[in-house]
Amino acid sequence: MAEDNSNLIHVYLDDQEEPIVSYRPPVRFELDTTQLEDGPHKLKVVATDATGHKGVREIPFEVRNGPGIDVEGLQDNDTLDGKVPILLNAYGGAKEPFWEPARAETPAPVPTWAWVLLLVVVAWSTFYIAQQWNVPEEFAATPTYSRYSGQGQVSRQTAGQPASSSKANIGATLYRTSCASCHQGNGEGVPGAFPPLAGDPVVTAEDPTRHIEIVLFGMQGKTIEGVEYSAAMPPFSEQLSDQEVAAIVNHERTSWGNDAPTVTAEQVQNVRAKETSN
Ligand code: HEC
Repeated sequence: MAEDNSNLIHVYLDDQEEPIVSYRPPVRFELDTTQLEDGPHKLKVVATDATGHKGVREIPFEVRNGPGIDVEGLQDNDTLDGKVPILLNAYGGAKEPFWEPARAETPAPVPTWAWVLLLVVVAWSTFYIAQQWNVPEEFAATPTYSRYSGQGQVSRQTAGQPASSSKANIGATLYRTSCASCHQGNGEGVPGAFPPLAGDPVVTAEDPTRHIEIVLFGMQGKTIEGVEYSAAMPPFSEQLSDQEVAAIVNHERTSWGNDAPTVTAEQVQNVRAKETSN
């Protein structure tokens, strides 16, 4: 018996008594799993050397010749009660000639997070487009957004716009091109150099006469709110029409928190007619 076993390798399957293979090493053999039932199995290799010492190696493995089975709605060791909907799918059996990936996909609804992500993206793009529609003032003069190239052409270029918004647009646009270089787009001016128009007493005064006068005829060497400005406020009577002055004055009177009565082109005309110089 011992003589028999030396230098032999025996291969056992599962807990069978008889080896399925007995050879001298090295051994190459084919394990035919189609003869086995799907599920866990065990291969046991026993080798004996010349001195009679045994080496044993056990290799657990799993056979799957039948189709893959997918179960949705029930997991290992789940605790269930009531009625439980369960979705079963089987795919890719060994006898199927073609592997069809679609069969392996278990139909499932689009996950919630995907919907949420989609909604966020849609909401953001809507918001972004709306933003572009209403360009913030400080960017409106930049080449990307500016619809107007210079003063004087404004009235012509805005002619096609709805009457309600065009007035405010003309005022804002003219302010940007004629005044913002000194008084800044936000109406805050430059401390010590150009006075702020936001909250300025002339700009917020009930009576707009002085406001119109300054825009038409300029101003120089005046102290405003205790600050002396060495630069001069240039006159605009030559460059701007009554309508344009009214639009700018109204823009200043209603922007940056200012909330003063607005003026008409006729009022500007009157001021222009009364004074010829400052
Ligand atoms: C070149 C720079 C410059 C430009 C351009 C300019 N301003 Fe002025 N603005 C001044 C300065 C400087 C003063 C103050 C002058 C002073 O104190 O004597 C002033 C004063 C004013 C005041 C008077 C503020 C007060 O409290 O008395 C108003 C209103 C005004 N500017 C409106 C405008 C408007 C409207 C425009 C565009 C049509 C404009 N400015 C363009 C420099 C400028």
